[in-house]
Amino acid sequence: MRSAITRDGVLDGVLSAVGSTPLVRLTRLFPRSQARLYAKLEALNPGGSGKDRAAIGMVLGAIESGELVPGESTVVESSSGNLGIGLAQVCRLHDIRFVCVVDPKTTAQNLAILRAYGAELSMVTEPDNDMNDFLAARLRRVRELLREIPSAVWPNQYANARNALAQQETMREIAEALDGRVDYLFVATGTCGTIHGCADFIAKHGLSTHIVAVDAEGSAIFGDVTCRRLVPGHGAAIRPALYHEGMAHSVMRMTDQDCVVGCRKLVATEAILGGGSTGAVVSAVEQRLPELPAGANCVLLLPDRGERYLDTIYSDEWVDEKFGDIRHLWKENTTC
Ligand SMILES: Cc1ncc(COP(=O)(O)O)c(C=O)c1O
Repeated sequence: MRSAITRDGVLDGVLSAVGSTPLVRLTRLFPRSQARLYAKLEALNPGGSGKDRAAIGMVLGAIESGELVPGESTVVESSSGNLGIGLAQVCRLHDIRFVCVVDPKTTAQNLAILRAYGAELSMVTEPDNDMNDFLAARLRRVRELLREIPSAVWPNQYANARNALAQQETMREIAEALDGRVDYLFVATGTCGTIHGCADFIAKHGLSTHIVAVDAEGSAIFGDVTCRRLVPGHGAAIRPALYHEGMAHSVMRMTDQDCVVGCRKLVATEAILGGGSTGAVVSAVEQRLPELPAGANCVLLLPDRGERYLDTIYSDEWVDEKFGDIRHLWKENTTC
């Protein structure tokens, strides 16, 4: 997904602005870190997250193969956030009707963004269990819509190889920026598209990168006991088909509080307003700092931006209500 820049430096349409996101050095987050820390800012994709890459990969791949016909087909997908927004963007541009299956946990802001791009919303209301998961209900609705709508196509982000393939490019950009020396990669996991694609690139090019999967406490991806999770984005109530044994060298399962603390530390020190999984990645790195060797290149893949979490992670009232007064956890001078 190299950006198609014309000779005068002008991009050919908004989808050409997806990818080639900045890699920035972090010097203030953990100033005593012996390792060099870098952040890959996926929030700077035009749809606001790394899921733009997956959405384009899946939709344009399906158009190329003839499975999807612009002007005729309808895309149906279950997503409460970033992938839905990425799909809404690419479908709008290619005149494809898009029906996004959402649930009551989808934030009002994400619903408004989806509508603004022209997506149609199909809301499920009955949770699958007392942990307030809606994945099974959403997938049932997807199957109903596929039966009802003629020429409906389901990208199925949890199992679509094009989701992972699109993310190989993310890793290529990182590797090129660091001349092939990427010692550690911290990557949040949901569908496992990102980690799968990065791991494939690393294996194909013989890089010696240690991949740290950053999952959510209570997610079923790397564990089998699920529990209620407050922060959306990473973590899943199922083990996705894109998961495979060995794609991560180590796994860290981070709590909702870790997400909040990581986000608040990152914005306080580096002025980067990240989303929930960004906070999980930051907290995961902090826990591993003592073992990161001096001079190691350590990349934090940061999936999305904080504007979508202003009513939760960046709301003092919400944080007080859910966790009590934990401000000291990001206000104290860091010892790292
Ligand atoms: C904010 C955020 N972080 C992390 C992830 C996980 O990425 P992946 O689905 O590629 O595993 C997602 C997926 O939607 C996400 O929206």
